[in-house]
Amino acid sequence: MNRPSNPHMLTQAATPVGTHAGYMPGFGNDFETEALPDALPQGMNSPQRCNYGLYGEQLSGTAFTANPPERTWCYRIRPSVKHSHRYEKIDLPYWKSAPCIDPDVISLGQYRWDPVPHSDEGLNWMTGMRTMTTAGDVNTQVGMACHIYLATESMIDDYFFSADSELLVVPQEGRLRFATELGIIDLEPKDIAIIPRGLLYRVEVLEGPARGFVCENYGQKFELPGRGPIGANCMANPRDFKAPVAAFEDREVPSTVTIKWCGQFHTTKIGHSPLDVVAWHGNYAPYKYDLRNYCPVGAILFDHPDPSIFTVLTAPSGQPGTANIDFVLFRERWMVMEDTFRPPWYHKNIMSELMGNIYGQYDAKPQGFVPGGTSLHNMMIPHGPDREAFDKASYSNLGPDKLDKTMSFMFETRFPQHLTPFAAKEAPLQDDYIDCWTSLEKKFDGTPGKK
Ligand SMILES: [Fe+2]
Repeated sequence: MNRPSNPHMLTQAATPVGTHAGYMPGFGNDFETEALPDALPQGMNSPQRCNYGLYGEQLSGTAFTANPPERTWCYRIRPSVKHSHRYEKIDLPYWKSAPCIDPDVISLGQYRWDPVPHSDEGLNWMTGMRTMTTAGDVNTQVGMACHIYLATESMIDDYFFSADSELLVVPQEGRLRFATELGIIDLEPKDIAIIPRGLLYRVEVLEGPARGFVCENYGQKFELPGRGPIGANCMANPRDFKAPVAAFEDREVPSTVTIKWCGQFHTTKIGHSPLDVVAWHGNYAPYKYDLRNYCPVGAILFDHPDPSIFTVLTAPSGQPGTANIDFVLFRERWMVMEDTFRPPWYHKNIMSELMGNIYGQYDAKPQGFVPGGTSLHNMMIPHGPDREAFDKASYSNLGPDKLDKTMSFMFETRFPQHLTPFAAKEAPLQDDYIDCWTSLEKKFDGTPGKK
């Protein structure tokens, strides 16, 4: 057996299909992968004795009786009960969970922040998580939280999982490696990753400092949106989602596992790496997606469709058509609509909209919403283009126009989002954001035909 000499080098499976080293393509597939030959039982899940002396274990991401159920069978060096001992409560003061409603904080309004600056203090995936907003209730598994992560240090012999949530990770700066129980996901800006509830991992900083956004989904898992009349193609195509091949390490070193459970954090000490799954099969797995593969669909004659046309993934809420969370992407695209006000129109929305800028300039806000920046337009709070964007869109000659070098996203939820004390008092809030609409003047004077 080829055992790693570097303590942090995991023994990884050969790529089964040959097109994407280290990954298996497809959204929600029933995958199978093994890092050692014949480690995966064939034709059954629970043989009397597993090959290599491995333990068989099922990780269930849905109720057994969900339709379809999502679960993965793992064949591992030790069962997970050996990766867990007595728990001790710890504090990660900047990682908040809903409900987190501070009486001194006003969440009603339009808010925008500059990028949260990196700290002089070394921070890792857990200590560098800065919650901006929370919505819903972590205990009843509805709603979400939005975080900014700041990471300069790798987790070493330090592991984490969230029993509360699935994490949607949107890097904006730096490169990260998620070494998970089910394999390795490398992530850089313009990629996203989904880390499922209950999946254990450590995060290594491959290139720092690293900063990005996280949507913590307390509810039903993200899925591909129904395309309706659009049909089978465009938007996010299932083949472009990639799950990792199996990877394991066999290391006997003192290690710490931190668990997020009902909004609280607990640690447990163990004597080995828990990344010991040699083979697995199933449909409950982490995955990554390159946002540059997203094929936007839009208006090709006139008017401006609802932003839902740009949905990448949606997490249902149980009420059809009303998402717990929609993840929406505003990327490069052509604007060709005739006689049309092309930027997003002015509106109020029952859903609350948190946006982040990955790179470039956003068309409704040419200034102020910078890469790494965040904005929040909460439930039923009016918003829309600023004066500069309004004038440009109202008076420019309309020809085919490419919105280039731009990538922003939105986490939109049916629930109001509450600012954390960090977002209201410590993060670089732009106090003058609301002034971007101040110079919009009344133009109406009753004259017919005036435009
Ligand atoms: Fe909006």
